[in-house]
Amino acid sequence: MKALVVSDLSITFQGGSKGFAAVRGVSFDVAPKETLGLIGPSGCGKTTVLRAIAGLNTNWQGSIAIFGEPLRPEVKITGELRSSIQMVFQDPYSSLHPRHRISRILGEPLSVRKVVNVEQHVRDALDQVGLPSTAADRYPHQLSGGQRQRVAIARALLLKPKLLLLDEPTSALDVSVQAEILNLLNDLKASHGMTFVLVSHDPGVVAHMCDRVAAMRAGRVTGVAGRDDIVRAFDTDRFELQEISGPA
Ligand SMILES: Nc1ncnc2c1ncn2[C@@H]1O[C@H](COP(=O)(O)OP(=O)(O)O)[C@@H](O)[C@H]1O
Ligand SMILES: [Mg+2]
Repeated sequence: MKALVVSDLSITFQGGSKGFAAVRGVSFDVAPKETLGLIGPSGCGKTTVLRAIAGLNTNWQGSIAIFGEPLRPEVKITGELRSSIQMVFQDPYSSLHPRHRISRILGEPLSVRKVVNVEQHVRDALDQVGLPSTAADRYPHQLSGGQRQRVAIARALLLKPKLLLLDEPTSALDVSVQAEILNLLNDLKASHGMTFVLVSHDPGVVAHMCDRVAAMRAGRVTGVAGRDDIVRAFDTDRFELQEISGPA
């Protein structure tokens, strides 16, 4: 069974006389424990696709199935399915509540789900992402960008997701910190047996992380390439999105 199947997904934003078709018939699938990259220029619809899968945008057409379970746009995702899909956002500066301590940012989703021993879970989660337990007492502004993104990853992991949606998780970070976060994600993926969809506009990040990559342009998937093709594209220094092709 596939971890994720997206078929003929279309998303139109209202406004203007007939709206704006940001996503136009996108299809791809992801096998369990695979990392699929979604790459393409700014504005091509990558974040919009992820938000639909995460249930953050419910105004879509087509079909999305997660581990065999179809999502319906008009039905709010709840319960176990909700926990099993988590998203890490591009900007760790705006994705954490500025006036909440890290202990609350991490603890609240657990308390809501009536998990016991929240403090211990929070300490363990911080430890997993390489942060000291003292980070729990801090506010986001007291942490660096890389540390904040570690907190965002910890928050996603606390709910034990099977599918992690990563929206340019390192693009707001210093180059020196990017590799640390990407390696952390790969380690956590292996130890938790997760499936990733990783959005990026950076071919280097995609080549480092992904088993396959789907290239997007202007709301459409223009091709899907396997790992070897990504690497070859780099070898020849000719990486161009439109040259990636192959069976979707
Ligand atoms: N809430 C929205 N309302 C109207 N247009 C939007 C909205 N969100 C995104 N868009 C538009 O949809 C297109 C795709 O956006 P996005 O998915 O954020 O692109 P990407 O993540 O690939 O940079 C862009 O043209 C963007 O301006
Ligand atoms: Mg985006």
